Amino acid sequence: MKPSGRDCLIIALDVGTRAEAISLALTLAPFAAWMKIGLQLFTAEGPDLVRVIRETGAKVFLDLKLHDIPNTVARAVESAVGLDVQMLTLHLCGGTEMIRTAVSVAPDTLLLLGVTVLTSANSETLREIGITNRVSQQVVRLAKIGVDCGIGGVVASAREIGGLRKEIDRNVKLVVPGIRTPGSEEHDQKRTMAPAEAIATGADYLVVGRPITSATNPMIAAKQILEEIESAF
Ligand code: C5P
Repeated sequence: MKPSGRDCLIIALDVGTRAEAISLALTLAPFAAWMKIGLQLFTAEGPDLVRVIRETGAKVFLDLKLHDIPNTVARAVESAVGLDVQMLTLHLCGGTEMIRTAVSVAPDTLLLLGVTVLTSANSETLREIGITNRVSQQVVRLAKIGVDCGIGGVVASAREIGGLRKEIDRNVKLVVPGIRTPGSEEHDQKRTMAPAEAIATGADYLVVGRPITSATNPMIAAKQILEEIESAF
């Protein structure tokens, strides 16, 4: 069965307080089944907020982008499982041993996602840290490592979806941030794409933050993006 647009839309709750996060989660629930709690909010409000957002009925994507020694990452995955989250991220550049150890403790109810190259990075960012691959090559390289280790999904920009779909199994979910409607502000994102185009190219889930949460009317912005997603089905 094809998912609804609402099932594909993840709102990045990149706000600083519990009150703002709860208000956004309740307001945007008709348009998005998923709420993403990232580093800013988790650091400010902690695990209790994850429980509160779950209680609104949303599925929770805990975007902690774990990257540490294998044992530490695996224990953090277990802690996240205890919070009943449905998606969790780790950095694939942590390597095979770290990824496999994390996968070994993740239950089927958790979609463990591997972050490839952040959408705010470009080839200059990679060169700076000694990686000579182009972004697209590095994304595919890391995604293949993740999939070989049993990761269930990959986070990448929409511009890499085509390359990834050729190289990795169709069952591996592609989660795509850096979504911008044409003409809207890019902020710090460098590899963006419009919602309908991203879905048509093969994204399974879209992560949208500021285009909705910073809009004058977040409900109208979310509705427009949802309609765009559904137009691509
Ligand atoms: O506000 P915006 O739509 O740019 O938010 C994108 C969200 O997706 C942010 O929460 C950011 O941390 C996250 N993200 C990303 N690029 C990745 C992985 C996650 O932008 N590669």
